[in-house]
Amino acid sequence: MPTHAPFIPVQPPRTADWVPGWRGLFGERLRNTIYGWPEPAFDEFYRKRRILGFTVHIVTDPDMVERVLLGNKENYLRPRIAQRILSPLIGNGLLSAEGEDWKKQRRIVAPTFAPGAVAKMSATIAAVAARQTGDWLRGTIRTDMACAATDATMHIIADTLFSSDARLTTRAAGEHIDNLVLASGQARISTILGLQDLDISPVMARARRGRVYLRSTLTALVRERGPTGGADDFFGGLIRSLYEQFPAAQAEALAVDNAITFYVAGHETTANALAWTMYLLAAQPWLQEEARAEAVMALDGDIETLADRLPLLRQILDEALRLYPPAPRFDREAQTADQLGNAEIAAGDLISLWPWVMHRHRKLWDNPDAFDHTRFATDAKARLHRFQYLPFGGGQRVCVGARFAIVEALIILAHWLAARRFSLPADFVPYPMGTVTLRPKGGMWLQMEPI
Ligand code: HEM
Repeated sequence: MPTHAPFIPVQPPRTADWVPGWRGLFGERLRNTIYGWPEPAFDEFYRKRRILGFTVHIVTDPDMVERVLLGNKENYLRPRIAQRILSPLIGNGLLSAEGEDWKKQRRIVAPTFAPGAVAKMSATIAAVAARQTGDWLRGTIRTDMACAATDATMHIIADTLFSSDARLTTRAAGEHIDNLVLASGQARISTILGLQDLDISPVMARARRGRVYLRSTLTALVRERGPTGGADDFFGGLIRSLYEQFPAAQAEALAVDNAITFYVAGHETTANALAWTMYLLAAQPWLQEEARAEAVMALDGDIETLADRLPLLRQILDEALRLYPPAPRFDREAQTADQLGNAEIAAGDLISLWPWVMHRHRKLWDNPDAFDHTRFATDAKARLHRFQYLPFGGGQRVCVGARFAIVEALIILAHWLAARRFSLPADFVPYPMGTVTLRPKGGMWLQMEPI
């Protein structure tokens, strides 16, 4: 078998050393959370920073992360500042709730995302992917695969969870979500400064319009369905259970909050994972051929177990989620004082967890910036620390849609690879842009041609 030089995929520039925290309030550092990370961050496991009056502990030691997310999880809740940023959009839905409210909501949705239930959605997922590839123009064309990914994942969320409601797959809905994602960095700073309603910049104005659009669209959907849930789908079951367990007014509000949460969180992250996986496959044609052969074989068989017959593609997807974690950062706030390793944590301090940094940390991975899917071969994967690889978070707040996302991504990738050959145009270099998610700025423009 021919050997190939390791492929080093793109990343934004780093700096030689740490820069003062205020630099993050301006320019590219404000817009892009993964821009300008200092080299030492990829060697050390802990750093304390003061940013806009907050004490922030950047923790990348897997043992310390384990204590935050699992060992002492009651002490580390979603930060109040994050709730303030998110609550106008997703209220008190699963992603932002705490305590009993969170537990009840998690119990309501968990059965939908259990492995058996997800396997049953495979046919719906495959139908969307097959329809999409069937619509692709023949000939050699340049296509934005990030856009194709969003198109597929948006339709899949609408078809699997919301009985294909057409209002969720309009162009306008997609544009509003784009605007919200793009504004998330700036929204964070405005909220910290208490200026969120005064920020009249075009970016924030567009984001506000997006929020109003999503809330009014999803509120209309919930009201049409009524307390009985209307249909026998995820959304209907969610509404019915909420009305059973919460007072009516709260149930209606939570139905809207969760509809937005699952609609947005359920497609944006997976779309990014797909776009970056396609970049890695386009840049390594030999690997793409192997993955294609596996996909073609796997597609010829039982649909519910399709995702399980793609072990190579699964390794490639895992490696894509390492190199480009779609949620590059998430945070917690300490409720009381604690000791994390040698670090003293005070009540109110923020703990900043960075899959982006941990996944490229030199003490955690060999040759961390190089692509190597064999890191996720069964034996090697079993040797990883449970909290060194966190594309879906960890502990009790681990992503409830993780299995759904993996099955969905594998099925889409299999269809794409079986339908077309993809290559990286010589004049195109993607640019990773970290906001609340990790998107290829300006798209993922690949060349595709018939097999
Ligand atoms: C590749 C795709 C995905 C990635 C990388 C991802 C990542 C994450 C991460 C890192 C968290 C934890 C955040 C934290 O602890 O603060 C999370 C939570 C969550 N994700 Fe995902 N996610 C993905 C797909 C999905 C899908 C498909 C859905 C729904 C259909 C979903 C719904 C949620 C929800 C509701 C939560 C909050 C869970 C809770 O707090 O109990 N995600 N996700």
